[in-house]
Amino acid sequence: MSESSATPLYEARNISKSYGSVIALSDVSLKIHAGEVIGLVGDNGAGKSTLVKILSGVYQPDNGQLLVDGVDHSWKSPHDAMQAGVETLYQDSGLAPDLSIGSNVFLGREKLRPGILGKLGFLDQKYMEVEARKDLEKVGITIPASKRNVSQLSGGQRQAVAIGRAVAWARKVILLDEPTNHLGARQSNEVLSVIKAAKERGLGVVFISHTLPHVLQVTDRIVVLRLGKVVKDAPTAEFNAESLLGTITGLNGAKVEDDDSESVA
Ligand SMILES: Nc1ncnc2c1ncn2[C@@H]1O[C@H](COP(=O)(O)OP(=O)(O)O)[C@@H](O)[C@H]1O
Ligand SMILES: [Mg+2]
Repeated sequence: MSESSATPLYEARNISKSYGSVIALSDVSLKIHAGEVIGLVGDNGAGKSTLVKILSGVYQPDNGQLLVDGVDHSWKSPHDAMQAGVETLYQDSGLAPDLSIGSNVFLGREKLRPGILGKLGFLDQKYMEVEARKDLEKVGITIPASKRNVSQLSGGQRQAVAIGRAVAWARKVILLDEPTNHLGARQSNEVLSVIKAAKERGLGVVFISHTLPHVLQVTDRIVVLRLGKVVKDAPTAEFNAESLLGTITGLNGAKVEDDDSESVA
């Protein structure tokens, strides 16, 4: 396929990462092309969030390379990755409930550090509310009054703001770590629509989810991690619900080691 010969927007090569004695990722490679949605799946503890945090500059890999448009990069902080056009919705860091929606959309933009909460007093609130609303509308998310604090929003609305923030700012790649967690069916479908819109804008998308029908529905390619290793990286069309589950759990004969040409049918 022509897309696989093009230079990826973003590429991870041979990434390894340990936390003390825990090997979270071992020799993991991933290519993200423009207009491509990649499903990143695997059981709890497989290493998905660790890979996202390396791609987004939260953690530095122990080994391996990150390339944007084929050029080697190393991130000192998430701000570096954001500057390069990589936006992230983290699994475990949501929004700041006591700030307005506008402040949340802008959270972390002006200061280079994460955890900036409480240091936004000098910012122009009005500007942020207006711009935040525009950003969210751009990606098809309408929140009635963006001056409301996030604590007044439902779980689904909060998630919409978080995703809107990421998609609105992304220039190349968006990393979504379990964005439909805790969402109902209708809200999940809205998230899937936002993913499709991001793809149509030519962004590369990494979508992490345990809801396999969603992954099969919205992705072009699926990368399966097990125990910190890529056990399968193949076009979505090559999977069905059963074979995907089997590849994730390893109960269909798929091996952890170095065999990426196996059949999963
Ligand atoms: N901050 C951390 N400190 C120590 N171990 C961690 C940390 N984050 C993740 N791990 C471990 O790394 C492995 C991969 O975790 P994670 O990347 O969160 O997987 P997933 O997102 O696929 O559930 C697990 O064994 C997990 O316990
Ligand atoms: Mg995770």
